[in-house]
Amino acid sequence: MKAVRFHEYGDSTALSLDEIPTPEPGAGQVLIKVTATSFNPADALIRAGHLSEMLPLALPHVPGLDVSGTVAAVGPDVTDWAAGTAVAAFLPLNEDGAAAEYVLAQADILAALPDGVDPVDAAALPGVGLTAWQALFEHGELAAGQHILINGGGGAVGGYAVQLAHAAGAEVSATASPRSADRVRAYGADHVIDYTATPVTEAAKGPFDVVVNLAPTSPEDTDALAALTCDNGVFVSATTPPATEPGRGVRVARMGVHADPGQLTELLDRVKSGTLRINVTDRRPLTDLPAVHAEADRGAHSGKAVIVP
Ligand SMILES: NC(=O)c1ccc[n+]([C@@H]2O[C@H](COP(=O)([O-])OP(=O)(O)OC[C@H]3O[C@@H](n4cnc5c(N)ncnc54)[C@H](OP(=O)(O)O)[C@@H]3O)[C@@H](O)[C@H]2O)c1
Repeated sequence: MKAVRFHEYGDSTALSLDEIPTPEPGAGQVLIKVTATSFNPADALIRAGHLSEMLPLALPHVPGLDVSGTVAAVGPDVTDWAAGTAVAAFLPLNEDGAAAEYVLAQADILAALPDGVDPVDAAALPGVGLTAWQALFEHGELAAGQHILINGGGGAVGGYAVQLAHAAGAEVSATASPRSADRVRAYGADHVIDYTATPVTEAAKGPFDVVVNLAPTSPEDTDALAALTCDNGVFVSATTPPATEPGRGVRVARMGVHADPGQLTELLDRVKSGTLRINVTDRRPLTDLPAVHAEADRGAHSGKAVIVP
């Protein structure tokens, strides 16, 4: 099968299109014929070796954390899934990913892909959708009537966070630069803050029960953001944690997204029912993956790209 791999950590030129044997599913595993994967900022960090200490990989490594596809074969003890079923999953960061024609996954991380959800666009959902869900509900414990600030509302995670927070009955303030402001407003943000015109810490009208940070802020800016959280509120950090504890009973949650097929099924059901929208800005062939990484490295990639083998 064809797979994009990096044999050493490095820049985007470390990625090459290789011909490798198609893996066979072992106990508890499913072989998925990949319909699409997506590009996540974490893919570039992993490829560059920035996470190698906390996330040692066996090289060469196939990137691609998200997958949508079709079950091609199941391991000897797998009874829940059968060949031909359409599925989606968020794959483990330290296993070979879905930038390939086939990928192995543990059967217990899969969600069935409902009819009516575009199978290519579905690859844009798992990692970022789960991050948004877990930031809001597992870490932020967001409830109806609360006021949430989503810093990074213009990004892929932010788009789902805004939609989910609005659907949960929260008042939503979200940052978005002019290129994403209309989309974020359409997703249900009550207050949109153009962080390129005024720093969010000046423009945001808090205090906020929950603040979710999805942007690459400096430690100082993160502290200023955490200061917008109300007494006994929650500051959820998916990026830089605060340099100092905010005090006042503010709980700081440093999150790392994890696979959860139940949550992913709920997200897919919402997409099917039209209450959650997937935003894909780019569909690229697998052979373009090194170019997508290069664009991301030089800050020239915005929006969500799905990668089709
Ligand atoms: N900890 C975890 O478990 C976890 C999981 C997933 C992702 N992440 C991290 O979360 C971040 C967002 O991920 P993503 O997939 O949503 O990335 P993305 O789609 O690339 O989002 C980037 C967007 O953030 C906005 N942004 C950039 N700088 C900003 C700033 N200073 N203030 C406010 N908004 C700013 C921009 O939107 P506009 O200019 O269009 O408004 C930009 O398009 C990444 O750093 C990623 O690594 C963490």
